[in-house]
Amino acid sequence: MDLFRRKSVTALQAEAAGDHSLKRALGPLNLTALGIGAIIGTGIFVLTGTVAAQNAGPAVILSFVLAGFASIFAALCYSEFASLVPMAGSAYTYSYATLGEFIAWIIGWDLVLEYALSATTVAIGWSGYVVSFLADLGIYIPAQFQAARGTVVTMADGSTVTALFNIPAVLIIGVVTTLLVVGIKESASVNNVIVIIKLAVVVLFIALAVQHIDPDNWKPFIPPNTGSRENFGFSGVVAGAAIVFFAYIGFDAVSTAAQEAKNPQRDMPIGILGSLVICTVLYIVVAAIATGVLNYTQLDVPDPIAKVADHAGLGVFASLIKMGAIAGLTSVILVQLLGQSRVFYSMSRDGLLPPFVQKIHPRFRTPYITSIVTGLAVAIPAAILPVRDAAKLVSIGTLLAFVIVCIGVLVLRVREPNLHRPFKTPFVWFTAPMGALSAMYLMFYLDLQTWLRLGIWLAIGFAIYFLYSRSHSRLAQPGGR
Ligand code: ALA
Repeated sequence: MDLFRRKSVTALQAEAAGDHSLKRALGPLNLTALGIGAIIGTGIFVLTGTVAAQNAGPAVILSFVLAGFASIFAALCYSEFASLVPMAGSAYTYSYATLGEFIAWIIGWDLVLEYALSATTVAIGWSGYVVSFLADLGIYIPAQFQAARGTVVTMADGSTVTALFNIPAVLIIGVVTTLLVVGIKESASVNNVIVIIKLAVVVLFIALAVQHIDPDNWKPFIPPNTGSRENFGFSGVVAGAAIVFFAYIGFDAVSTAAQEAKNPQRDMPIGILGSLVICTVLYIVVAAIATGVLNYTQLDVPDPIAKVADHAGLGVFASLIKMGAIAGLTSVILVQLLGQSRVFYSMSRDGLLPPFVQKIHPRFRTPYITSIVTGLAVAIPAAILPVRDAAKLVSIGTLLAFVIVCIGVLVLRVREPNLHRPFKTPFVWFTAPMGALSAMYLMFYLDLQTWLRLGIWLAIGFAIYFLYSRSHSRLAQPGGR
């Protein structure tokens, strides 16, 4: 059946070996930094607060632990693939080689959702911190234009205003899109500086705020369920895990740099797992401190970490934390939008999307059409969606990708047991099923509306596949492989 036609792993390996267009300059430290740069973002800076307030209470700490487990299982599977098929394209490329074209299409289409809407989600988080930072300087953005439609914004005098749309979020998408069109180079050294700022902010927060913890704020650790599955009680903790799972997304950015790694076989797994483990530890500590300093009921704001810092009386440090968060979130948006154009590019090269996607600007030498279309498509939800809704949709899409990658590792072990695997997922018959099951478990706790949105997105994808991609695939052409 042509739906299941596959690229061969050996052909992919030959393609990767023959492609010398990128310089191999990244070592394990740079790769780990790349991962941290892509991972730490709106998840920890914003969702910690809303999930504590609406889903899990102080047990948001447990939500981070649960989501961390699911991510680590999946990361172990990603690592096997990333060392085996060291190519840009990530889960899309892996599934093309294992589960066939149709599943690869689903994953590719799903990754488009993941990257594009992650950029949206992070832009919304960015907006919250910018509004807060500007207010410190005495500059006030009108409340109608600083949050998603329908959000009730409480003013300094206690009055409330209902927002219309989120202008700062749209602006940052515009700025990053322009940078991509004129050809900003992803540079490991700029990324390293931003990662250092971001880590410094998080460590500064931990070191200063820890002294202001009031253990009474952790009681009750899991507030009683209110009758809705998502709202407190253990089910609320799991639903919270499905949302804060967003915070862990990004480690696959490391795998997209496979062709720039000096020694991808050894260093990809180090970069993927190293960045993930460091972030997991930081997240758990930050969540514990945030809910320890301020009662969880007060954390449902666009800039919870800044609010905690203000509450702890950190003064000028609170402003520094906001500035660091703003810089860090900007780089996440950039990485996500770049990742998005890479996935489109890989899909178009395989014939699954039209060739114009690869069209390069004559002067800037960038895939400008894709960047502009993506920028517009990402800016609209950034203007109108609340951060939680956007994050849920990204989480469900990424969890689906995890399920497929974990199954893909097993399929390839059975189908091609003798391939040289520089990194083998340890205890694969335990780890991979656990990865798939834990991702499914979290998906199950996301609400119906999120499932419906995923369904609509996939339905659009199926239509494009059957109307265009299936017949234009390079594998469908004579001699294609
Ligand atoms: N993990 C990234 C974030 O939290 C996408 O912003």
